[in-house]
Amino acid sequence: MIRIAAVGDIHMGPESQGVLRPAFETLPDCADVLLLAGDLTRHGTPEEARVVAREIKDLGVPVVAVLGNHDHHDERPEEVTAILQDGGARVLEGQETVVECAAGRIGVAGTKGFCGGFAGRNAGEFGEPLMKEFVRTTRRHADSLRTALERLDAQDCAVRVALTHFSPVPDTLAGEPLEIYPFLGSYLLAEAIDGAGADLAVHGHAHAGTEHGMTSGGVRVRNVAQPVIGRAFHVYHLQVPERVAAPVGGQAH
Ligand SMILES: [Fe+2]
Ligand SMILES: [Fe+2]
Repeated sequence: MIRIAAVGDIHMGPESQGVLRPAFETLPDCADVLLLAGDLTRHGTPEEARVVAREIKDLGVPVVAVLGNHDHHDERPEEVTAILQDGGARVLEGQETVVECAAGRIGVAGTKGFCGGFAGRNAGEFGEPLMKEFVRTTRRHADSLRTALERLDAQDCAVRVALTHFSPVPDTLAGEPLEIYPFLGSYLLAEAIDGAGADLAVHGHAHAGTEHGMTSGGVRVRNVAQPVIGRAFHVYHLQVPERVAAPVGGQAH
């Protein structure tokens, strides 16, 4: 069994230093990896990022993160990324990483993602250049997620996880006003996840949403925004698929 701890939208600032640390210190007992689904800071300042870095340093489990829209607000995402990396996090944007644990290899592909809405109620790549660029931005994030998941396919992972800040599905937005769904995620992320395949998709951003959802391709989606899960993190247990053993004297296909 692979144990994946996840939380997003911890929105840390100077006065929240130490709030999550006691819970995070229990991670080696209950999880193989901690995923952080973006919006780790309030305004994306280096000072706030340093609070997060101290909170996650030397936890005893690998930490894999994506940034959220709040982590971009101060327009210094590279600096925020570098500070989180100093704290030991692997920060993904259109990349993948593999975490080795006793039960097998955990592949994580991550991107912040972006918005635009869900099939039938989505922004289209049409009209003004700004509108086209908006949709292309989402498409670039989705494409990078797809190729990162595809690269993991060749890396003998027991499970593959898609980590985003924006939501790939509308299911996990239930509770949010319908009018803002187009700003909470994009169906292009779900198309990427279903196209490349994954065992779990984790996102944040929708503070008033719902934890459980699913892509149309059947991939489990979990909204781990802290206000949704109501705790420092949630742990998801994933079954390691059984390998087909090669018959004696024969070959496995
Ligand atoms: Fe947030
Ligand atoms: Fe957000």
